[in-house]
Formats: sequence, C-alpha cells, structure tokens
Amino acid sequence: MSALCKLELSQFRNIEHSNLELAPSLNLIHGENGSGKTSLLEAVHVLATGKSFRSSLVDPLIQEGAPEAVIFAENTEHTSFGLKKPRNQKHQLKLGGTTQTNWDEVARAIPTQILDSGSFQLLEGGPKARRRFLDWGVFHVEPQFVESWRRSRKALANRNRLLKSHPLDEPQLEPWNQELVTSAEKMHAARRSYMEQLIPVFQDIHVQLVGQNLSDLTIEYKRGWDEESGLAEALKVNLAQDLKYGSTQLGPHRADIEMRIGKRKAIELLSRGQQKLLVCALKIAQGKLLSAAIGRQCIYLVDDLPAELDRENRERVLTQLLKLDSQLFVTCVDLTALDFIRLEPPKLATFHVERGIIRD
Ligand SMILES: Nc1ncnc2c1ncn2[C@@H]1O[C@H](COP(=O)(O)OP(=O)(O)O)[C@@H](O)[C@H]1O
Ligand SMILES: [Mg+2]
Repeated sequence: MSALCKLELSQFRNIEHSNLELAPSLNLIHGENGSGKTSLLEAVHVLATGKSFRSSLVDPLIQEGAPEAVIFAENTEHTSFGLKKPRNQKHQLKLGGTTQTNWDEVARAIPTQILDSGSFQLLEGGPKARRRFLDWGVFHVEPQFVESWRRSRKALANRNRLLKSHPLDEPQLEPWNQELVTSAEKMHAARRSYMEQLIPVFQDIHVQLVGQNLSDLTIEYKRGWDEESGLAEALKVNLAQDLKYGSTQLGPHRADIEMRIGKRKAIELLSRGQQKLLVCALKIAQGKLLSAAIGRQCIYLVDDLPAELDRENRERVLTQLLKLDSQLFVTCVDLTALDFIRLEPPKLATFHVERGIIRD
C-alpha cells in the first residue's frame, strides 16, 4: 500500500501551518463551509500533480500576504515529497531530496484521483475532460506513453504554426505530419489497450454501485481520426479544412470516450444521480486497474461527498472505495452524514478544520 503518512502545509490558502499524521485508509476532514477542507485536498493534489483542480494558476494558492507556500509529505515507504512555490517565482519540487524538473516521477509515486463536483464534467463536459481521464490511466500503467504524448504535442504545435503561415510551405509540413502520425499511433495503441482493460472492470464496479446491470450501456473509445484511412491519409485529405481553421482537426488530441445507452448518449437518458454513479464507477475502476497493473494504490480525494450523493449512494461509493485498499481523504461539513463508516483508528483519522486550523 502506498499511502501518505505525513502531510505538512505552510501558508497554503487559508492554512497558515499544519502538520498532520495521516491514516493509511480513511482520513475524514470536517468543518464549516470556508474552513479550509477543500484547500487541504487541493494541497495533496498540487503536490502530486503540479496542478490544482480548482485553478490552473499557482500563485493564488499561496496565502495572501505570504511570500511562499510549502507542501511536504512522506509516504509509508519513507519517501519524501516537497514542493515550494515562492510568489512570482518558479516552484521547486523534490522527491526524496532530489530536485525534479517535471512531475513525472512524483505523479507516478503518488497516483491521485479526485472525486468532486467537477468530476461530473466527465459526462456533461466536452471531450477534454474524458481525454484527461483516459490519459491519467494510460500515464500510470504505460511508462512510454508520456513520451509519445509530448512528441504529438510538439508536432501539433509546429504543424498548427505552419498552417497559420501564408503562403503555406507544404514541404515543411511533411516532417511534422510524420512525427504526428508516429506518435499518434503509439498513443492510440496505448489508449485502446487501456480502455479494453478498463471497460470490464468498470462494468463490474458499476453493477455493484447501481445494484443492477445496465446491459445496453456501452463505452467506446474513439481515436480522433478515421480508422479506415489512417491518420497520414486523413491529414492529407483534411488539409483544406486544417488551413481554414488554422489548426489540425484530426489526431490524438481529438480522442474521446463515447458513453451510450442503446443509440442515445448516456447523459441524455440517465438521471443526475445515475450520472454521478457512472462517473464514480469510472474513477473507482481506474484505481482498481492501476493496482492490478502496477501494484500501487492511488489516493482518492473525495470532496464534499454528501453534497453530491444521497445517503445510500454515498455509502455504496465509499464501500467500493474502501475495498480498493486506497488511502482516502474525504471531506464533509457534518460528520453525521458519514456515520455509517465503521472504521476505527489507526485505519481512520478524523480532522476538524476551523478557519484554516486543522486539529485531530
Ligand atoms: N490565497 C489565499 N489566502 C488566504 N485565504 C485564502 C486563499 N485562497 C482562498 N482562501 C480562503 O480559504 C478559505 C477556505 O476555502 P476552502 O478550502 O474552499 O473551504 P471549504 O472547502 O472548507 O469550504 C476560504 O474562505 C477562502 O476565501
Ligand atoms: Mg470545499
């Protein structure tokens, strides 16, 4: 089990200073609205991924008036993680005392999933949220994926730059086309293989969550270009369109996951409650697949579950999450909303947050 056992925050949002001894299984964080519960989850997320799930800017995370925010954590394997973000300056990230140039290693060491009101974008929102979901999974199980992903981004950026220039220098486009096609094929192979593994795990968890089998619910991965012709041909055929928009219309950056019930989109038919359970099942399935693939559990940050799910579904979702043997951070305003939880210390730690001060 790869849990965090210590978390120390300094001048992060409204949390002036906090030093927490975490439980390996469930960390319950309760307190009034605006007390700092989401900030605590956000700190774990920023440390693990370099990004907040609330804003992409990092400076607003620093406490007002403070020169820098610091987040430090240690896991049960005695590996330390440290992030310092001075105002208006680049961050410093350390893993086991060694400075990191990017988040790859830290993200792999602390795989982190978030379940909050924003997670439902997975169904309601555009394909970007679904690609992020997909790529989170592939990143963690397929170490080569990030390289192909970066190469495709670079090829796309260069190709798009050329598409915008007049007159078009077609010979210059060719090497970027080739680079895009090569990286796209690799990304597609990894994404497809991931989805093939994920779907049965998802179906199993979904049945347990909703208590019945939605037999006509289908999930289909779409690569982002026509399968028959292949991407090289599609780029040629689509050149006029790409020139018109000044950007590449087909490619791995257009991949999506389609969820349908019969012929209709799932979002059009499912109730709000059913949509939420579907998203929870997808996220839980990712955690299960991750441990099966790499033998590490991911950390789940579950923000204000009572606000999102009714009591029965809350209990079902938490039961499935606890079955993963993952470390959970669960926030709520009122603990009675989670009084069905039967865990005891040391597996359970309860923290109360009041105006940025966290007490166990
Ligand atoms: N950079 C900052 N410095 C100081 N306080 C902040 C900063 N950013 C946000 N806050 C405050 O932190 C408080 C805690 O917010 P939040 O973690 O969302 O609370 P909760 O999740 O408990 O409702 C809010 O009152 C917010 O105004
Ligand atoms: Mg909150």
